[in-house]
Amino acid sequence: MNNQARSLLIRAPLVPVITIHNIEDAVPLARALQRGGIHLLEMTLRTPRALEAIARIRAEVEGAVVGAGTVLNRADLDNALAAGSEFVITPGATTDLLAAGGRCGVPFYPGVSTALEVMNCLEHNLDTLKFFPAEASGGVKKLKAFSGPFAQVCFCPTGGIGPHNLAEYLALDNVLSVGGSWMVPDELVTAGQWSAVSKLAAQACEQITDLQLAAEERS
Ligand code: 3PG
Repeated sequence: MNNQARSLLIRAPLVPVITIHNIEDAVPLARALQRGGIHLLEMTLRTPRALEAIARIRAEVEGAVVGAGTVLNRADLDNALAAGSEFVITPGATTDLLAAGGRCGVPFYPGVSTALEVMNCLEHNLDTLKFFPAEASGGVKKLKAFSGPFAQVCFCPTGGIGPHNLAEYLALDNVLSVGGSWMVPDELVTAGQWSAVSKLAAQACEQITDLQLAAEERS
């Protein structure tokens, strides 16, 4: 079992999927999420300033755990690590990326959506995976089906998840956390509406706490 990857997600049931267009937004955004109770941040490498955003958050936001998302190839992986990424997430998994990611020294979460892709990850001893795009790939039903043959594998589903359906995902034994962009809407970030971002994060955390309390009461 990939312990480091698993324990990081167990501590972070919510993974905001962030796209930074303006570098000056990176640090205030990270701080706004922290104020709302979210400390783990996936910075997607979808914009030219994403790597700098990772480096700045690492340097300036104490307590944040920032990693790179949308890592598509080995060059992205190397750049993400050089910028200080504390974990790495990919939307899919090439053989090259699985080999490099599996020994990159930080938690590495390859994206999968099929049984074959899960098996490829297991061949590289990777058993804590992103399920992407979650809703479009079969959602909760597919993850339930994966739990039969892949009982040792845990997932962070992302893609189409939000307050309306996160409870269904987190109720599954093979789901540790959920990711999504709903906590960091572009319009709030570009307008610098940091208190609104903190509020969204706090609402999401409250939803998680309610789910955990309800689960405890049932057990
Ligand atoms: C991702 O990159 O993980 C997804 O694009 C996020 O999906 P969402 O915008 O539906 O949350």
